[in-house]
Amino acid sequence: MDGLHVAIIMDGNGRWATARGRPRADGHRAGTEAVRRTVEAAPALGISTLTLYAFSTDNWHRPQTEVSTLLDLFRTYLHSEARRCREQGVRLRVLGRRERLPVPLQAAINRAERLTAAGQALDLRLAINYSGRDAILDAIGRCTPPTREAVSRYLGPEVDLLIRTGGEQRLSDFLLWESAYAELVFTPRMWPDFEAADLRAALQEFHGRERRFGRLLVPQTLRWLDPRGAESREKSSEDGNGDQAGAGADDGHCVPSRDSVEQRRNHA
Ligand code: FPP
Repeated sequence: MDGLHVAIIMDGNGRWATARGRPRADGHRAGTEAVRRTVEAAPALGISTLTLYAFSTDNWHRPQTEVSTLLDLFRTYLHSEARRCREQGVRLRVLGRRERLPVPLQAAINRAERLTAAGQALDLRLAINYSGRDAILDAIGRCTPPTREAVSRYLGPEVDLLIRTGGEQRLSDFLLWESAYAELVFTPRMWPDFEAADLRAALQEFHGRERRFGRLLVPQTLRWLDPRGAESREKSSEDGNGDQAGAGADDGHCVPSRDSVEQRRNHA
């Protein structure tokens, strides 16, 4: 799949509910509707992979009733949405360590993954009992030798855009390796209020950003940044070396081509 990888930290369910004088569980339930809306909107916006942070390994420290509510919601969602996902060409997968999840939830995950395995329109990845640091440790443990490429391949595609709702500005142990060069967008919108228009706005901001991957980007009119300066660039072009002059193709100072950006994403 060659669209964008968008990852979302779905924050603000609790505050959304509290602001309405309702129990936090209502916020999580309303958050489920926002998940549906987002999944439905994603493919048409050029997103091919959507990773949603549903439950971190640290969330086990919440009150038992809230944990149970969340795990029940995931099971219900997987049960009711698997068929709809299949109809929409959505391939559903779950990231995170499953052993600790209740057996009925594990069964719902397996069923949903099986039912939607042929989906081509969108890779939907739900992070449940997930920790970015644990994921890196797991990858290192399974890759021999644990090279950058092998770990990247094991973990999955690099994140292009990471959105966090709810007004906080942190990563909270989410996709730490894969987000090395992600663009970050933080919105004060609480997750239950998140609409397709918010996703569109975040993507608009993303498309307006300059992604440099640690390199130098220069105006397209100059085409290549020549560390030797304009004079030598002119001289090089007189010498007949025009387009390649000082291209820096092997010194890392070149404009990342569409191909190189693609390669970064595809090697995962
Ligand atoms: C963070 O908001 C949200 C969570 C810990 C749970 C996310 C779960 C959902 C969106 C429910 C539906 C998900 C799926 C995949 C069906 P918070 O409760 O920490 O909000 P707060 O910061 O306002 O307290």
